[in-house]
Amino acid sequence: MLFFHKAKYTIRDIGLKSDIHCHIVPGVDDGARTPEDHANMLQAMKEAGIERMVATPHVCKSLYPNYASDLRAVYKDTLLAAEYMVDDDFREMSSDPLLYPDGKHILIEMSYFERSRNILDEIFRLREMGLCPILAHPERYRFYQESPAGMAELEKIVDMGCQLQLNVMSLTGVYGPGSKTILRNLLTHGMYSYIATDLHSAHQLEMMNRFYVKESWLDLLHSLCLSNEALFFLPDSVSEP
Ligand SMILES: [Fe+2]
Repeated sequence: MLFFHKAKYTIRDIGLKSDIHCHIVPGVDDGARTPEDHANMLQAMKEAGIERMVATPHVCKSLYPNYASDLRAVYKDTLLAAEYMVDDDFREMSSDPLLYPDGKHILIEMSYFERSRNILDEIFRLREMGLCPILAHPERYRFYQESPAGMAELEKIVDMGCQLQLNVMSLTGVYGPGSKTILRNLLTHGMYSYIATDLHSAHQLEMMNRFYVKESWLDLLHSLCLSNEALFFLPDSVSEP
């Protein structure tokens, strides 16, 4: 394993300035509970070098029945998208989807323990609608870690036009060897498009700010940070470098 016995790095080392996945809206999911939590998370993100973010509350009818109209009405402090659970209620809950500011991308997830039986159908449908789904933290799904077919399905998902988003916390190894293996394969094969904190509380940033990876990965991780930027702008407003 070449994963851990390397130098310790922080979020600043990879240049994550624009976060595209965090749970900072108070009182709507398992992230910030209070306005104080919200303020503490913003302060911790600022100290970690994160300059802006898109808030992505969970949307899952059985656990977090957050409707887009309600979220838009209560949360106006920063940019707002959502993290949609792909389950039997997904079509209903995403009928008026909260997209990234670029107006094209939508963040989706599955249960960590049970593959969504409709995941491929919904990715196909979203693509037919002209949207670009982003699957959150593929390295965390146990069914991909434990099955040799896991990487094959992720390759299929990417081929269908769904992008993948890496969680910073996964770099710490806290999710176990199966997660590390998937992460390494996806990262070194260029299959991730984005990276994010998926922050649920301020103290999580302390853990994220000490991960050990090969030095050669820093450029790969930095390029994901740069890719995040495109989600903040309408396509024709992105200036050429
Ligand atoms: Fe999340």
